[in-house]
Amino acid sequence: MEFLDLKTQQKRIRKPLEKRINKILDHGAYIMGPEVFELEEKLADYCGVKHAISCSSGTDALLIPLMAWGIGPGDAVFTTPFTYVATAEVISILGATPVFVDVYETTFNIDCEKLEIEINKVIKEGKLKPKAIIPVDLFGLPARYRIINKIAKKYNLKVIEDAAQSFGGSIKNNKVGNFGDVAATSFYPAKPLGCYGDGGAIFTNDDILAEECKAIRIHGTKKDKYNSEMIGLNGRLDSIQAAVLLEKLSIFDDELSLRNEVDFFYRKALNNAQYHPKDYQSAHALFSIVLGSNEIRDSLIERLKIRNIPTVVYYKYPIHLMKAFSCHGYKKNDLPISEKLSETIVSLPMHPYLETDDIDKIILAIQN
Ligand SMILES: Cc1ncc(COP(=O)(O)O)c(C=O)c1O
Repeated sequence: MEFLDLKTQQKRIRKPLEKRINKILDHGAYIMGPEVFELEEKLADYCGVKHAISCSSGTDALLIPLMAWGIGPGDAVFTTPFTYVATAEVISILGATPVFVDVYETTFNIDCEKLEIEINKVIKEGKLKPKAIIPVDLFGLPARYRIINKIAKKYNLKVIEDAAQSFGGSIKNNKVGNFGDVAATSFYPAKPLGCYGDGGAIFTNDDILAEECKAIRIHGTKKDKYNSEMIGLNGRLDSIQAAVLLEKLSIFDDELSLRNEVDFFYRKALNNAQYHPKDYQSAHALFSIVLGSNEIRDSLIERLKIRNIPTVVYYKYPIHLMKAFSCHGYKKNDLPISEKLSETIVSLPMHPYLETDDIDKIILAIQN
């Protein structure tokens, strides 16, 4: 049994994908070829958003809008410590300060009440200027954007949706990509929509921001590619990766409904999964359960391993306690929910091609 089965998916798309890759080998536009623009149009269409800007990774998809807003030293950016390190790393890369906010015990997403408390703390201290919020749509579940956007408006903050895991998710039929000033997704191979390497995309309805992001993606150039107007990056998506994504996008909705079914079967039998509020559609990047203690979690992992059932712990180390972030002075028990989750959570196999027999085997093993 696989934790994530990309082989079965590849069988489905292999022939048309080979055709697309052969076409690229013929036309030779490996960088910013026609596939990149075709993909961007289709992604924008899929999400119902004005601009989709492909880029080199989910990390760069977060970094580029922050660069466009000129976020840097002296600025505070609010996010959660219970996420992949990239979410906070991009804040630190720019010399800004990540301010960590704990998550809800039920959804694992940013706690809006605590968010407002942390914003007020930073204002009161007067050392940093609150600039932006990066809510994370953890495991594919969108964060509470109705409330987050209200808070952002009240304190004049930008919202950048970390949609690395949630492409395809929605709230009340409104697709991920539309919830903040900008959204950033990842096409890392393990993501619901993944390529065969690194890739990402930025989504926004803001015309000016879109132009800036496009420029930063190519070394800060606009009209003349040898005359930079601002500091940028080599942040482009390769044509071959765009071709992979075009083929995967064509079967994406079918795969999402298959993931939905897996989630449904798991959820029927297990009562300790991530809570999905009404009207929230997850992209089901991961299916995670929370155990009663660290010992129970670790012994479950061992027992499942004996039965050849693979599991992964996302995330074993909350970011605020990582050595790389020690300069911010956080200590144990500062963000208790995130810390507890990191000790008690485990993710089970989740992919569109998981057989019913395997789901039954996993459920039975856990119940035993
Ligand atoms: C929540 C989150 N943010 C950001 C990223 C970074 O994406 P990438 O690996 O494509 O740079 C990831 C990737 O795992 C992620 O899960």
